[in-house]
Amino acid sequence: MLPNLLEAKKRTSNKVKNYKYIKDDRYKEVGKNKTYYIKTYGCQMNVHDSENIKALLEEMSFSEVDNMEDANLILLNTCAIRENAHNKVFGFLGRVKHLKETKNVITGICGCMAQEENVVNEIKNKYKWVDIVFGTHNISQLPRILSDSINNNKQEIEVLSCEGDIIEDIPVKRDSKYKAWVNIMYGCDKFCTYCIVPYTRGKQRSRNPKDIIREVEKLIKDGYKEVTLLGQNVNAYGKDLELNYYMGDLLRDVAKTGIDRVRFVTSHPWDFTDEMITIIKEYDNVMPYIHLPLQSGSNRILKLMGRRYTKESYLELFNKLKTISNVSITTDIIVGFPGETEDDFKETLDVVNTCKYDSAFTFIFSPRVGTPAAKMKDDISLDTKNERLQRLNELVNKYANLNNQKYLNKIVNVLIENKSNKDDYLMGYTDTMKLVNVKCDESYLGKIVKVKIVGVKTWSLDGEIV
Ligand code: SAH
Ligand code: SF4
Ligand code: F3S
Repeated sequence: MLPNLLEAKKRTSNKVKNYKYIKDDRYKEVGKNKTYYIKTYGCQMNVHDSENIKALLEEMSFSEVDNMEDANLILLNTCAIRENAHNKVFGFLGRVKHLKETKNVITGICGCMAQEENVVNEIKNKYKWVDIVFGTHNISQLPRILSDSINNNKQEIEVLSCEGDIIEDIPVKRDSKYKAWVNIMYGCDKFCTYCIVPYTRGKQRSRNPKDIIREVEKLIKDGYKEVTLLGQNVNAYGKDLELNYYMGDLLRDVAKTGIDRVRFVTSHPWDFTDEMITIIKEYDNVMPYIHLPLQSGSNRILKLMGRRYTKESYLELFNKLKTISNVSITTDIIVGFPGETEDDFKETLDVVNTCKYDSAFTFIFSPRVGTPAAKMKDDISLDTKNERLQRLNELVNKYANLNNQKYLNKIVNVLIENKSNKDDYLMGYTDTMKLVNVKCDESYLGKIVKVKIVGVKTWSLDGEIV
């Protein structure tokens, strides 16, 4: 079953099917005495999918290894958002092929690139040695697909181009014992003209609130301190359900579970409600950190991007968010969208100067096959795009640094979550999502502690336990 972009783009009013994953015991020994290695590209959605994939493989008796060279099964969970994401995967495939030639290893590709027609055709024709390809809609079918490939000794490509279902209770092996990703919705219906996600992830499907709350309650029981509610467009949560229950309601109910920290990504400016702002202010465990992608500061470009807001309405929302005490706001920006003039770009710089973001992810526009923007006339040279990116980054870095300077000598809460790459230090994040390297021993792991900031860099802070 090969992917088909035209099918993937369709949106119907059909009701989303919601069912439960049931383990199939036929596959429970397929991975006996075998190991797996999984490499994950892309966003948090993919990171969380990999946590599901790991658990599915372990149900089949595979065990995880950290070194690709030690693995009997190698999976690449891929991202399609920009051309360089593709290039990284095809580059890495060269290393995998080398291993495949020297020993008997099973190889697979999944994730968003597997949903792309052109990519899968290339794998089918030029990468015949890749054993399995499956997509974002049929992760729970992995045990069968993998087992079929082993038994039939042939390439199995099984990618669905559909709107998608919701499958509850897929097992999960979480990377962290302290903070957890919780999907609240899948897919996206916004169809920003540059973006491939609505094609690779299907229709917007919100999970039932009861299932989300049940998951968070279980996480609390298991000792988790933080949940991040995940979706491409979390503020639109619930709009596809007939429950009259939206993101504000969900945020309140998740906060009420009493979990120490609640975060959510990503917020599309279009759907941000005043009620959400009230709830962030009202509940101390809803973190004052908001990722609010701007993409461009030019109304003309925003319109071409299909973003549904203007510079003015974005700034109005931004100012409302700034009334949340101690809030930190980050963003995403694309430079070099087809037709972007120097004046358009200056409007983007203007918004950055106004908003003084805590941090920003900045990208050069990358045409994605099948999206409307890929067909727009793009007459800006790569040199100009690079130069704009550099100017933008200088500004972004300036404000990131200025914002961090404000933390010097302040006392902040940090959830200590891991070793730091500095000796004798552990790392964690503040409520406002600032990375802090904290001088302390491992007995602090998993605890939320008060930390005094003693050093400031552009992208991190240094702290001491108080
Ligand atoms: N759902 C999120 C974005 C997810 S993709 C939102 O709507 O805000 C993450 C970021 O990648 C986007 O915010 C955008 O800045 C960038 N991006 C997406 N498609 C791109 C493309 N074709 N070229 C360059 N950057 C892109
Ligand atoms: Fe892509 Fe726009 Fe959907 Fe974000 S909201 S995933 S940028 S289409
Ligand atoms: Fe990439 Fe897919 Fe996420 S394209 S950014 S992994 S939804």
